[in-house]
Amino acid sequence: MATEAELAELRKRSREAWDRADYPPLGERLMPAARELVEACAVSAGQEVLDVGAGTGNVAAVAAAEGARAVASDFAPEQVARGRARTEAEGLDVEWVVAGVEDLPFEDGRFDAVLSVFGAMFAPRPERAASELFRVLRPGGVVGMANWGDRGFQGEFFQVLRRYQPPVPDGVPLPVLWGDEAVVQERFEGLAGRVSVETRTLPWRFGSFEEMGELFQRSGPRPPEPPPEEQVQALIDEVRSIVERHNQATDGSVRIDAEYSLVVARKRG
Ligand SMILES: C[S@@+](CC[C@H](N)C(=O)[O-])C[C@H]1O[C@@H](n2cnc3c(N)ncnc32)[C@H](O)[C@@H]1O
Repeated sequence: MATEAELAELRKRSREAWDRADYPPLGERLMPAARELVEACAVSAGQEVLDVGAGTGNVAAVAAAEGARAVASDFAPEQVARGRARTEAEGLDVEWVVAGVEDLPFEDGRFDAVLSVFGAMFAPRPERAASELFRVLRPGGVVGMANWGDRGFQGEFFQVLRRYQPPVPDGVPLPVLWGDEAVVQERFEGLAGRVSVETRTLPWRFGSFEEMGELFQRSGPRPPEPPPEEQVQALIDEVRSIVERHNQATDGSVRIDAEYSLVVARKRG
């Protein structure tokens, strides 16, 4: 099993990699998932809503535009700075907090809804993350997650990516397990009443594979040093072959509907 020191090192590496990303262009691409999750959780004016692993605050922005009081949190300080600049520029009233999902600095039962789009799923201790999401939620409130799974285009993409990344400590579950309904049910056991898990799709649309590759490289988490050129090329070649298998377009553009799991769970009253 991973030690606390190993987990802390893993979180630090991940946080710094997100800090180095030029994230906003990728965040814009994830907006459809934020809209779907906010709608599925019936977020409405007057509610207090927490966006966890908020990036540049898509969920918080959609919730604030609905008239909710939105708080956005992310463990990467640069993401929080980018998110704050974004919501200010959009004239939205969002409170920003630097915080990891496994240790949320909010009192018990504060929020009406606690939502995370492709954020909380990356915490190395999922049981701890689940317990924190529900702890800060009022009884009867709703936890919503958009989670990538180990299936379809995105599952294969993460399988390849893992082979090019440093190994994670023993006993840290794959983030994509959050896309599996049985795993979600087990992790929410005793925390949630009814849990619903639905498959949705995120539209990846690009003029070409090169445009897609450029966005993922620029806006995804970045290692401290650029990897050797031949390694980058090998990764690009592998991703290209996954894209070719899943691409529905035949004119040189990219059109992939990437499956994810949309989770809605109500806290026991
Ligand atoms: C793929 S981005 C998604 C961001 C945003 N939710 C969106 O939809 O655009 C993942 C985000 O989760 C954050 N993150 C990853 N692990 C985290 C953790 N353990 N605690 C808090 N935030 C985390 C990263 O800093 C990054 O901003």
